[in-house]
Amino acid sequence: YYIMNKLLKVLYTITSLLAVYGYTHAQQINILPQPQEIKISSGSFTFGKTTTIRYFDSSLLPSINVIIGEAKKRYGLNFTAHQSYMIKEGGNSIHIQLVEGMDNEAYSLEILPHKIICKASGKAGIFYGLQSLLQLISIDNKKAAAPCVVINDKPLYPWRGYMLDISRHFFGKETVKQYLDVMASLKLNRFHWHLTDEQAWRIEIKKYPKLTEIGSSGSWSDVDAPHAFYTQEDIKEVVAYAAERNIMVIPEIDMPGHATAISRSYPEISGGGEGRWKGFTYHPAKELTYEFIENVFTEIAELFPAPYIHIGADEVHFGNQSWFTDPLIQDFIKKNYLIDEIGMEHYFVRRVCEIINSKGKKMIGWDEIINTGVTPKKAVVMWWRHDKPELLTQSLQKGFDVIMTPRIPCYFDFVQDDSHKIGRRWGKAFNELHTVYAFPSGVEERIGKRDKQILGMQANVWTERIADKGRLDFMTFPRLLAIAEDAWTPKELKNYNDFESRVKVFMNYLNKLGIKFFN
Ligand code: ACM
Repeated sequence: YYIMNKLLKVLYTITSLLAVYGYTHAQQINILPQPQEIKISSGSFTFGKTTTIRYFDSSLLPSINVIIGEAKKRYGLNFTAHQSYMIKEGGNSIHIQLVEGMDNEAYSLEILPHKIICKASGKAGIFYGLQSLLQLISIDNKKAAAPCVVINDKPLYPWRGYMLDISRHFFGKETVKQYLDVMASLKLNRFHWHLTDEQAWRIEIKKYPKLTEIGSSGSWSDVDAPHAFYTQEDIKEVVAYAAERNIMVIPEIDMPGHATAISRSYPEISGGGEGRWKGFTYHPAKELTYEFIENVFTEIAELFPAPYIHIGADEVHFGNQSWFTDPLIQDFIKKNYLIDEIGMEHYFVRRVCEIINSKGKKMIGWDEIINTGVTPKKAVVMWWRHDKPELLTQSLQKGFDVIMTPRIPCYFDFVQDDSHKIGRRWGKAFNELHTVYAFPSGVEERIGKRDKQILGMQANVWTERIADKGRLDFMTFPRLLAIAEDAWTPKELKNYNDFESRVKVFMNYLNKLGIKFFN
């Protein structure tokens, strides 16, 4: 494929040089993530003063409007949307057609000298076809054009995610929206929002105002950092913004650990913790705690249309010291035959899973949940402990759907170059661009025939050591481009050198947005 692709690129360069239109700018097909099938023909489509996007189904309009905005922002082009009840051979038009029988998120894009046709079975595919078209546009002598091609494309995995921790350091909705724009252009479709942790609780909950009045102040680097959180209006705005870009927003409310901000706000439901981990847990043996969780998730379920709520459930042992002496907890363990504190933790997770299921949602948890007794019908596992690959195997064998996000190579708070000083490492291991690009090689044998249970993969950015936007950009990019291609493009079509050349082109777009990536 690689040789074919190179040959095709050379061939295309020659044909475009020879093209009789006087359109002599040699163009490459630089789409990221790499599409499944590209057939290149000669000639190009030239965009006029305005180009009309003709569509029929009005549910497509919000996504089409996103593309119109992007064409203006990136290239200064004026596209207009026009609802047509029949296919009319208008000049300089992009024709949108919904067709039956194509996979979810798949699209075909046909660029001819006088028209462009984008087909898909639904709005996700149409949006992605138009995103590919945006990446094909180039400006030469003030004329905007796209090369004639036929692209048939679809994603490898349905879950192509990015997680941002805004608890350790807060990043406002404008940063989130900018990242959603970039995610959309990379055909990433899941935004996992890590909304609460030790440092702060960052989402308004009407029933529990102290969560933000008290719990939203402070950050990892400054305990006195001013209050910072999203109002429910902010959340609705971001969720809607994401939906127009085919991105589902999954909230994470971490429990029963990582709950220090809750303990500060409502000490009556704190399960304690010691030393550095003071107030780290929810109290797992009080009905008041489950009432609180039930009420919080009622509001969360209304704010986020996603069919999932993420409850974290990681690293409880860091701060469950008080559980060993708390009389209520000890009594609860005995009365309910839970054996020990781990049994208590598992009870908590099962109970919270029931609450989430009662809201019509599935629970997601970090890989700590696989032995809690929650069932694969009710919960999805995020595998993160790369040093325990057996947890991936066990999750699959137990029948869970799994999202892969092992620290190596999916945690972008790890450094990406040996010379970098700030950021994590695991022994000698860290996450260079090419390490990220190689994923999921290394775990394919573990997955084996259970690949249908792999929903996909995700990059996670924890922000303990990321205090400002420049640093966030630097740690996220360009590695997010590699995850996007890992999740979209089958292994046979991936090639690191070719990827690198497309990364360079994509950097023009990042530059335009003012994103300060690691070059
Ligand atoms: C995690 O990194 N604690 C999920």
